[in-house]
Amino acid sequence: MSSPTITEISSFAVDVEEGLSKYPKQLPSKYFYDAIGDQLFQDIMAMPEYYLTNCEFEIFSEQRADILQAIGDAPFELIELGAGDGTKTKLLLEHFLREQADFTYRPIDISGNVLEQLMTACAQEFPELEVAAVEGDYIEALTQIHEEHNERRKVVLFLGGNIGNFPLAEAKKFLNQIATCMDAGDLLLTGFDLKKDPKVIQAAYDDPAGITASFNLNLLHRINRELGGDFDLDQFFHWETYNPLSGEARSYIVSRSEQKVNIDQLHLSVHFEAWEAIAVEVSAKYGERDITEMAQEVGFEIKTNFMDKRQYFMDSLWELKP
Ligand SMILES: C[S@@+](CC[C@H](N)C(=O)[O-])C[C@H]1O[C@@H](n2cnc3c(N)ncnc32)[C@H](O)[C@@H]1O
Repeated sequence: MSSPTITEISSFAVDVEEGLSKYPKQLPSKYFYDAIGDQLFQDIMAMPEYYLTNCEFEIFSEQRADILQAIGDAPFELIELGAGDGTKTKLLLEHFLREQADFTYRPIDISGNVLEQLMTACAQEFPELEVAAVEGDYIEALTQIHEEHNERRKVVLFLGGNIGNFPLAEAKKFLNQIATCMDAGDLLLTGFDLKKDPKVIQAAYDDPAGITASFNLNLLHRINRELGGDFDLDQFFHWETYNPLSGEARSYIVSRSEQKVNIDQLHLSVHFEAWEAIAVEVSAKYGERDITEMAQEVGFEIKTNFMDKRQYFMDSLWELKP
């Protein structure tokens, strides 16, 4: 599972060609996560500035009994979108197993590498847990699970700041797509990074050690490695802005000079003007009102909200209405 599949390679190629041919240029952040990107993201989660991991870790450590109680007793499939290395999810898995909840774990991730690590860790730490992973894009993989027509209800996890990788209008569209793969009464637990001091947010995405910069620039390395690109990494840099009005932190890769980059496998030559940017990631932050309105608009009812002590982060549990 660790080497990319043909579909992955071709969708990467198609999206790179499309994104670098348009103006302004754009590359999807889901391609950050190859084996090197997975490791860099684990380094980000360990950074003191990246408060998101600690907040959700605290919520799960201290409120996992309440989370299980809110989920209820009936057997369920625990489906996780973009599971990553499962650092925080393992707190839930451990508690659910200890309480003898009847569930199967279905992690989904676009990175086969990270899924393989997660499955190995689960087999070692929770040998009694039934795990059936699906490698692929969120909705394709969730549709595949939905089409299995399992009798059990679904409890879908979408943790960390992943929902924030969609701008608000697209996030609603995405949540609607999730809802079409669920049945009435199924549950969705989503992590929302809340609006807070802009300085705290800015530091989380622009750390002084430059780990986030390496993580973002790995995308250009990946194009060089997998598609025969000749990006000169010294000629590009990472730039981050947080807009407290829209609640969006946005990451860019900026060209230091006018230059031409060739990508052999795409037979593509890309021209950059000096200071031209590629938009690579959005990380949206929310107010409680945004979350309530979003749940209502996409047909869910909020069951319970779980927040950390500093009120930086919220895991919101929603039930799909009939
Ligand atoms: C920011 S990490 C978060 C991991 C974990 N949910 C957490 O909270 O620590 C995002 C994860 O989602 C995966 N991912 C990103 N875009 C994806 C997509 N479109 N489909 C499936 N997985 C995706 C990445 O490979 C990565 O493991």
